Amino acid sequence: MTPGAAPHTLPVPPRESPMTSTSAASLSSLIGRQRAGYALETAFYADPAVYAADLGAVFARRWLFAGHECEVPRAGDWFVYDVGDESVIVVRGADRALRAFHNVCRHRGSRICTSASGRAKAFVCPYHAWAYDLDGRLLRDTAAEHGVAAEALGLAPVALRAVGGLIFVSLASEPPSFDAAKAMLAPALKPQGLARARIARTVDYRIAANWKVVWENNRECFHCPTTHPEYIRANYDIQLGEPRHEAEIAARTRECAEQWRAKGLEVPSLTSDMTAAWYRANRTPLRPGWVSESLDGAMVAPLMGHYPDPEVGTLRVTVFPNFWLHGSCDHAVSTRVTPAGPRTTDVRVTWLVAGHAQEGRDYDLAKLMPFWQRTSEQDWTICENVQKGVMSSGYRPGPLGRFKERNVAQFLDWYLGELRQTLGGVIARA
Ligand code: FES
Ligand SMILES: [Fe+2]
Repeated sequence: MTPGAAPHTLPVPPRESPMTSTSAASLSSLIGRQRAGYALETAFYADPAVYAADLGAVFARRWLFAGHECEVPRAGDWFVYDVGDESVIVVRGADRALRAFHNVCRHRGSRICTSASGRAKAFVCPYHAWAYDLDGRLLRDTAAEHGVAAEALGLAPVALRAVGGLIFVSLASEPPSFDAAKAMLAPALKPQGLARARIARTVDYRIAANWKVVWENNRECFHCPTTHPEYIRANYDIQLGEPRHEAEIAARTRECAEQWRAKGLEVPSLTSDMTAAWYRANRTPLRPGWVSESLDGAMVAPLMGHYPDPEVGTLRVTVFPNFWLHGSCDHAVSTRVTPAGPRTTDVRVTWLVAGHAQEGRDYDLAKLMPFWQRTSEQDWTICENVQKGVMSSGYRPGPLGRFKERNVAQFLDWYLGELRQTLGGVIARA
C-alpha cells in the first residue's frame, strides 16, 4: 500500500507521441465519422496507426494495472510488466516500499531484467554488469571512466500507486490523479484482503483480437445467455433492465445491500454501470443459494480477507484501460488486458485465495478455476470471431443496444475522448 518513494534518479523526459500530424489528421477524420451509439469502424480494430495511437494516447498516459502486491511480498521481490515498447520493473525495496522503474539500463540501454519475475539484492545489467540498488541507485563509480556521477544515472522511475493490494503504474511524465479512484477503490477492496492473498494460479492468453474488442465484450452481458451457461446461473446481469425481472432483482438487491451494510461492507454502487469515467467499484447480489462464482455456487476456498460470512455477493472492480476483477467471499479473479498488436491482445487471468489457504488442503484448482476459466475462454472465442468479422469488407458498424449495451457506448465514449485529448495536443503542435 506504500506508494514508491522518490529514488535517486533523474526523471526520463516525456516521449513524443507516436502520432505525426499526418496520422493525427487521418485519425481525427476517423473519429469525426464515428456515430454515437455505434460500433467502431474496421480501422480502429486493425490499423497499425490506430494501434500506435492507442499505445501513445491511452496506454502511455493512463494508470495501468501491473500486478498484485502479493506477487512481491518480500524485500527484493520483483516482476516485470511489458506494454508495447515499454518494460516496467515493479520491486519491493529493502524498506518495504513498492517502486517501479523503466527496465532500461542507463549505460547503453539494455533491458536489465530479462525474465518475468524474481528476487534480487540488486539489479545487474546483463550487458556490462552495471548494478542498481533496489531503490534504483547505480552502485558503481562512473565519474572517472564515463565522466558522469553515478547519482545522475539511477534507473528512471515510473509512477506507482497501490490500492487494496493492486499495483498500478503510469508511464506518463505527469500522470493523471489517482486520488478519486483510490478513494472509491480502497474501502471497496479492503474486505477482499488481496494484499495478503495467495495466487492460486495464473493463466496467460494471447487473443487474436484488438484490445477494444475484448473490452466491448466485457462491458455487456447481452451475449451471456448464448455464451456463458455457468455465469448466468450465478448472476443477475442478463436480466437487468428487463421489466418482468425488475421487481425481483430490486427486492433481492435491497435485501442484500442492507445485510452488507450491517456487516460493515462498503457498497459504493449496486449496479453494473461504471461509477466514474474510467473506474468503478460495486457489489452485486448473487442468485439465492449462490455464495461464490463457482460451478455449483458453493464455496471453493476459505473465506478471504475480512469477510465475516459467505453472504457478500460479488465485488466488481474495473479500471480502464486494462483491468477488471470479480471477488467472491472465498476467491477473486483478476484480468489484465495488454495490447500486443493491432489485432492481438495478451490477457492474464489470475485466481487469488486467502493467504493462509493451502492447495489440496483448503482448495482444489479443479473446483476453484472452471467458473472463470470457462467464462473467460468463452469470451476469447467470441472476441476472435468478432475480430474476423470486422476485418471483412462486408462489415459495417452496427447499432448498440440502448440499455444492454450502454456500457459499451460508455467505454467507446471514454476511449474516443482519450484519443481526442491527445490529438488536440498533436494538432496544436503541428
Ligand atoms: S548497457 Fe547495461 S551495463 Fe552496459
Ligand atoms: Fe462474456
